[in-house]
Amino acid sequence: MKHATDRWSCPPNLPTTHFLDNRIYIESEIISAERERLFTNCWKFMCLESEIPNIGDYRVSELAGVPIVTVRAADGVHSYFNVCPHRGAPLVRDERGNLAHGFQCMYHLWTFSLKGDCTSISRIEGYEAAGLKKQDVGLRPVRTETVCGLVFLCLNDDVEQTETFFGDMLDHIKLHMGSEELEVFHYHRAEIKTNWKGAVRQMRTRLCVA
Ligand code: FES
Repeated sequence: MKHATDRWSCPPNLPTTHFLDNRIYIESEIISAERERLFTNCWKFMCLESEIPNIGDYRVSELAGVPIVTVRAADGVHSYFNVCPHRGAPLVRDERGNLAHGFQCMYHLWTFSLKGDCTSISRIEGYEAAGLKKQDVGLRPVRTETVCGLVFLCLNDDVEQTETFFGDMLDHIKLHMGSEELEVFHYHRAEIKTNWKGAVRQMRTRLCVA
C-alpha cells in the first residue's frame, strides 16, 4: 500500500520533458501565468456577430477574470468592461439582451451610450466641487474586432491587430467559415468545476470520439 502511495505522490523516474506534471492543473502561480500569457495577450473568440444582429443587442463574457459586455452600436460592435465607472457596480446583469436606449447603471442611474460615452449623471451638481465631468467618465473599452462574422476580444492594447495576429490562419478561418453567416439555434451551458485544461481535453476527446 505504501508503495502505491509513493507512486502517486512522487514524480516518475523520467526526464521532466517526458511526462505531464499534474501541478499544471492546481497551482495558482501557473493559473496566474496562463491568465497573463494566454488569456490577456491574445485575441479570444467572444461570439458570432449574428448573435447580436440588432443595435443594442449585447452579450456578456469574462476574459482572464475580467467581466466584459459586447454590444452592437450603429457603427459596429464594441466591448467594455462590464463595470460602472462610478463605483464599480456591474453594468449589465443578464447574459444577453438588448440595450436599445444605452446602458443605465442600476445603482445610481448613470447612463452611457452604446459607444461608451457617459450621457447623464444623476444629481450632477453634487460632483461640481470635485470637478467631475461626463466626458471624463465613459466606459472602459476593450479591443474588439470581427473576422468573417466572428467577434474577437483582446485585453492588451499592444497586441497586433487580428489580421497580423492570425496571419496565415486567416485563410483557414475564411475557408471554413464560408460566405454564409452562421446562426446559433441552441445555447447549452455547462458549469464544470475543473481547471480549464481539463475541460478542453474532455471536449477534444468527445469530439474525436464523435
Ligand atoms: S455605481 Fe453605477 S451609477 Fe453609481
